[in-house]
Amino acid sequence: MIRFLTAGESHGKALATIIEGFPSNLPITSDYINFHLKRRQSGFGRSARMKIEADTAQILSGIRFGKTIGSPISLLIENKDWVNWLDVMAVDKKSNDFKKATIPRPGHADLVGVTKYNFDDIRNSIERSSARETSARVAAGSIARKFLEHFGIFIGSFVESIGGIYPTKDYFNQLLQNKYVIEKSGWNISIKADKSSVRVLDQSQEKKIINKINAVKKSGDTLGGTFITIATGMPVGLGSFMQFDRKLDADISFHIMSINAVKGVEIGSGFNSAEQLGSQVHDEILINKKEFSRKSNNAGGIEGGVSNGLPIIIRAAMKPISTLAKPLNSVDLSSMKKVSSRYERSDFTAVPACSVIAESMLAWVLAKHFLIKFGGDSIDETEDNFNTFAKKSMNRIRKGFKK
Ligand SMILES: Cc1cc2nc3c(=O)[nH]c(=O)nc-3n(C[C@H](O)[C@H](O)[C@H](O)COP(=O)(O)O)c2cc1C
Repeated sequence: MIRFLTAGESHGKALATIIEGFPSNLPITSDYINFHLKRRQSGFGRSARMKIEADTAQILSGIRFGKTIGSPISLLIENKDWVNWLDVMAVDKKSNDFKKATIPRPGHADLVGVTKYNFDDIRNSIERSSARETSARVAAGSIARKFLEHFGIFIGSFVESIGGIYPTKDYFNQLLQNKYVIEKSGWNISIKADKSSVRVLDQSQEKKIINKINAVKKSGDTLGGTFITIATGMPVGLGSFMQFDRKLDADISFHIMSINAVKGVEIGSGFNSAEQLGSQVHDEILINKKEFSRKSNNAGGIEGGVSNGLPIIIRAAMKPISTLAKPLNSVDLSSMKKVSSRYERSDFTAVPACSVIAESMLAWVLAKHFLIKFGGDSIDETEDNFNTFAKKSMNRIRKGFKK
């Protein structure tokens, strides 16, 4: 079973993660991790901080001569902005002219944080609830992603909409109907999306979105949106219906929903399926060259909590950023009087970054279920187990059911 934890505050010295449980002999480089960290920082509509940071992960343990050695992998990502926050984020002594944050922002973790943890400074809530932490998640997710790629599983994503501006082509539906041809691998969809400053597949949509982001920047507002995450090359059999907490769809939803500001997750046709007839929704089973195939993939690659071999297709919704330059009403906790909400440097939208983080979270959860199913202390052993299952499972069905 793989696991990881992250540590670090948004303006603290660094973010850290410890990743445990990957088999030995998996090739991985810091360049690979840094490549995905950079993708997370992209996207039109982010704050100026993205220009300061340029994240890179230092590998502190677990990898030797470019390969995992089975021991815990620890990664450190320095916060370049920390030097500007030495007083505010001091570990030991408190500066005299230090100013507390006292006005909670609606929609952020500010008020719940001070209430729950009995803080006397909202800064303590802000620092850990910030999406800066997702940088460590992308680093951890990159190891999972590299592991999956070894077995031909590729993950990709694109932004479907920002501020309600959708593409003219319904890419999501085309994916579900097997009509959007994902050349070779899910990663190709990301290659395409990464060429757009807002990670969309449609150029006319990109222009409209950029105009809208510029407009909200001026008016002091923010935007949310929807994004699609996919995984191709999936084997049958990840996840289980034997116990509720082993279901793959449930675990994917949890991991995607855990990303800051994500408020909705759909697997396959999700909410739309509720309005359709069963005959329109369920993916008919066909046999083609002695293999099963499906005309459609409305199930998003999962039936009964188990991967069915089709691409995993997920749609998620991110709410608008909650720090607004045009402030909402709030209360100053030092006077308990009604005031305008506090503003600090912030993104106007972060849907493109969110879609990249979702790739990492999906990679993590798939790698976890892959290792639960196939196990192995070295990648070679995992490979043997995987190949045996892939080779024999269809024959076993044939033999078992033969009259
Ligand atoms: C990539 C990314 C960047 C974000 N940037 C900001 C930001 O600059 N300002 C902000 O107020 N919220 C930002 N958020 C959202 C907050 O982190 C989030 O709303 C907050 O942690 C409260 O959690 P919740 O929205 O999940 O309830 C960002 C989220 C993501 C995924």
